[in-house]
Amino acid sequence: MIAMNYRGPFRVRAERNVPLPEIKHPEDAIIRVLRSCICGSDLHLYHGLVPDTRVGSTFGHEFIGEVVETGSAVEKLKVGDRVMVPFNIACGKCAFCRQELYGNCHESNPEATAVGGIFGYSHTAGGYAGGQAEYVRVPYADVGPTVIPDWMDPDDAALLTDVVPTGYQAAEMGGIQTGDTVVVFGAGPIGIMAAKCAWLFGAGRVIIIDHLEYRLEFAAKYAQCEAYNFKSIGDPVVFLKTQTDSLGADVCIDAVGCEAAGNFMNSLLGRWLMVQGGSTTALHWAINSVKKGGIVSIVGVYGPINALVPIGNVLNKGITIRANQASVKRLLPRLIEHVQNGVIDPKAMITHRIPLEEVSEAYHIFSSKLDNCIKTVLIPPSA
Ligand SMILES: NC(=O)c1ccc[n+]([C@@H]2O[C@H](COP(=O)([O-])OP(=O)(O)OC[C@H]3O[C@@H](n4cnc5c(N)ncnc54)[C@H](O)[C@@H]3O)[C@@H](O)[C@H]2O)c1
Ligand SMILES: [Zn+2]
Ligand SMILES: [Zn+2]
Repeated sequence: MIAMNYRGPFRVRAERNVPLPEIKHPEDAIIRVLRSCICGSDLHLYHGLVPDTRVGSTFGHEFIGEVVETGSAVEKLKVGDRVMVPFNIACGKCAFCRQELYGNCHESNPEATAVGGIFGYSHTAGGYAGGQAEYVRVPYADVGPTVIPDWMDPDDAALLTDVVPTGYQAAEMGGIQTGDTVVVFGAGPIGIMAAKCAWLFGAGRVIIIDHLEYRLEFAAKYAQCEAYNFKSIGDPVVFLKTQTDSLGADVCIDAVGCEAAGNFMNSLLGRWLMVQGGSTTALHWAINSVKKGGIVSIVGVYGPINALVPIGNVLNKGITIRANQASVKRLLPRLIEHVQNGVIDPKAMITHRIPLEEVSEAYHIFSSKLDNCIKTVLIPPSA
C-alpha cells in the first residue's frame, strides 16, 4: 500500500509497497482509509519537536474508513461498516477510560504514562502507525470506532475524529458562564472551532487572535466573532485589557500550543534552539490577559519537555488552568447531533483535498500556511 513516511524534520514522502497492516490482537480491526486529515499536531512532529518521532513512521490521527477485517474478539464492528475513528486509542476498561478520560487511557501507551496512545503520533504516544495511509490497524476496535450515520457527509465525519471535539472541549473546559468574554488564541481549525463552540456555552463575546489575515477573516465569518491580528494591536495583553474594562477576559483558550509565534525569545529558546519544550507565547498571553479568578483552557499541544510559563501570575491571580487531549469518544454523541441539526458545519473548514501520493506537497502547504490553507484532507487512491 501507499503510506505517508517521515524522513526527518520537514521531510515526508509517500512510500509505496508498504506492507499491509495485520491483525495483531483479537480486538483489532483493519480499516481501509477513505479520508485522512493533516492536523496542527502533525506539524509539531513534522518540525521535529516531538521526542521519539522515528524516521520511517506514518503519521495521521484524524481518519475515517471502511472495516475490511476484524479480530476474533471484535463484536460491535463488522466488515463493510464505515467508521470514524477517534484520534485517542483507548482500552475502554482502565480506571481513566471508566471516567471517560479516553485521551488518558492507562493501557494503550506502553511507552509513557502521561498520555494515552494516539494514532501516528511518535513513540511518545505509543508508536502506532497512523491513518495517512491506505490501510490502518485499529486496536480496541469495539471501543473507539463509531459507525458513520447514513446522512453524514464523509468530510464532516473526518473532522469529528479530532477538530470538532477538540474545539468543543476547549470551550467546555473554559467553564464559560452566560455573558462571559472568551478570548481564543490561534485561528487554526482548533481555535476556530473553539470560538464557534464558545457561543454554545453561553459566551457573550468571543474574540480570536492570530497573525494570519486570511484565517482571521474566515474565523470572523464562520464563528461570528471578533478577530484581531496580534501584529497590529501592539501588546496583545494590553490590548485585551483595554477591550475588557481593564479587568481581563473571563476565559482564555490556548489553541496554539508549542509553536507559538509573537515573541522572539520564546521562539528562539523553544522552537529553534530547543532548550525548552516549545514556545509558550500564546500561553503567556492567555495567563496574562485572563481576569483574576478566570479560567485558562489549554488544548494547544505541549510535549513532555519542561517549558517556562508565568506560574507566579497563575498563583497570584487565582487562575484555574484546565487542559487535556480531547476525549473524542465522550463527546461524539452530542457533536453528531450538532452536525445533524446544522449547529456545526465542520466541512466548511476544508480548503484542500490532496491525493495521498502528494503528501509531501500537502505538508509543505499546510506547514507554511500557503494558498490560504486552513484544513487539508488527504485522499488515498483506494478510497
Ligand atoms: N488537545 C487536543 O486534543 C488537540 C487536538 C488537536 C490539535 N491540538 C493542538 O491544537 C493546536 C492548534 O491546532 P490547529 O490544527 O488549529 O493548528 P494550526 O497550525 O493550523 O493553527 C495554529 C494557529 O496558531 C496561530 N498562532 C501562532 N502563534 C500564535 C500566537 N502567539 N497567538 C495566537 N495565534 C498564534 C498560527 O498562525 C495558526 O493559525 C496545535 O498545538 C495542535 O497540536 C490539540
Ligand atoms: Zn489532530
Ligand atoms: Zn483505558
